[in-house]
Amino acid sequence: MDKVRIGIVGTGYIGNVHGSIYSRDERAEVSALFDIISERAERAAKTIGGKVCSSQEELLENCDAVLVTAPNRTHKEIALAAIAAGKHVFCEKPFSIGIEDAAELRDAANASKGVFQVGHNRRYAPVYATLKKLLSEDSAHSAHVKMNRGELKNPVWTGDVNVTGGFLYETTIHLFDMMRFQFGEIEELVAYGSQHEYPELDEFSIILKFKSGFHCTFASSSDASWHFPFERIEVFCHHRTIMTEEMERLFDSRGMDANFETLSFHMTEKEEKWGYVQEDKAFIDSILSGEPPPVTADDGFKSVELVESVYEAIRSGKRIRFA
Ligand SMILES: NC(=O)c1ccc[n+]([C@@H]2O[C@H](COP(=O)([O-])OP(=O)(O)OC[C@H]3O[C@@H](n4cnc5c(N)ncnc54)[C@H](O)[C@@H]3O)[C@@H](O)[C@H]2O)c1
Repeated sequence: MDKVRIGIVGTGYIGNVHGSIYSRDERAEVSALFDIISERAERAAKTIGGKVCSSQEELLENCDAVLVTAPNRTHKEIALAAIAAGKHVFCEKPFSIGIEDAAELRDAANASKGVFQVGHNRRYAPVYATLKKLLSEDSAHSAHVKMNRGELKNPVWTGDVNVTGGFLYETTIHLFDMMRFQFGEIEELVAYGSQHEYPELDEFSIILKFKSGFHCTFASSSDASWHFPFERIEVFCHHRTIMTEEMERLFDSRGMDANFETLSFHMTEKEEKWGYVQEDKAFIDSILSGEPPPVTADDGFKSVELVESVYEAIRSGKRIRFA
């Protein structure tokens, strides 16, 4: 097969990250760019290449695969149009907003002949891939997970619930997907939330029980600070604690003394440390091999279901059980 021709819808921060990776991939080429602010597509074209298109339709005529890298609320419509045009789709997180839209997109993606991959990049980050390997060799009992932000001001739309769908969709969904990846399917949860700095719920405490019997606590604040690490997983096993600090480090403390091993990824390039290089490679692998991608539309749907369940648990004050 010739090179996979990549079209990018939304050439802001993350569109350029993926575009730059594909511009260096010999199996792919950036062939088309579309942004509602055309100067952004023109600027991106200078570094990552590709024809600057004046509409999404024109972009669809000039690519084999579409990267959906515009803000959250736009994902469903852009992805559905790409599926309808017979394209492979890489859709950034969040998969979509709301259960109905997520179900519609999941069904369309699953009925499509093309690949549909969701951008839960952290699954490929070396720190989290290592955690998964260590957990596969031990029996974990419980965990504490944290995912904070310092603000919802940059980019400006991250504080606009009409665009993001809510803080859990914008940020926390990364580690919601990570919990399923590391600990398996969820059986039930309870959650508390409150509103402080923004016109939406911006502070969350959640307790989850998994089908395996594993359980964990999860804290997420949108206006804490950028104190390192704003993202951390601590897992507790028999006389063992494994702890991650963002995508930089993993500590493994075994036995009854105070010694521990540290694995550091701070010398790894950010695009690889955060898993972007690996997920972009996986998308092309899947297109060329016909094998399912590592993060499917079903995974995307389940991350949306988890977000909605937490909001529902807070609204209703009830425990949410999963089928
Ligand atoms: N996986 C990750 O680590 C990660 C990191 C950053 C962002 N994201 C996700 O990627 C998406 C984009 O985030 P960003 O930080 O790049 O935002 P951004 O604001 O930097 O870029 C978004 C771009 O999309 C354009 N746009 C808006 N509506 C459009 C439309 N209908 N059609 C075409 N272009 C449109 C904007 O003009 C802008 O240039 C968001 O959904 C975000 O949640 C994921």
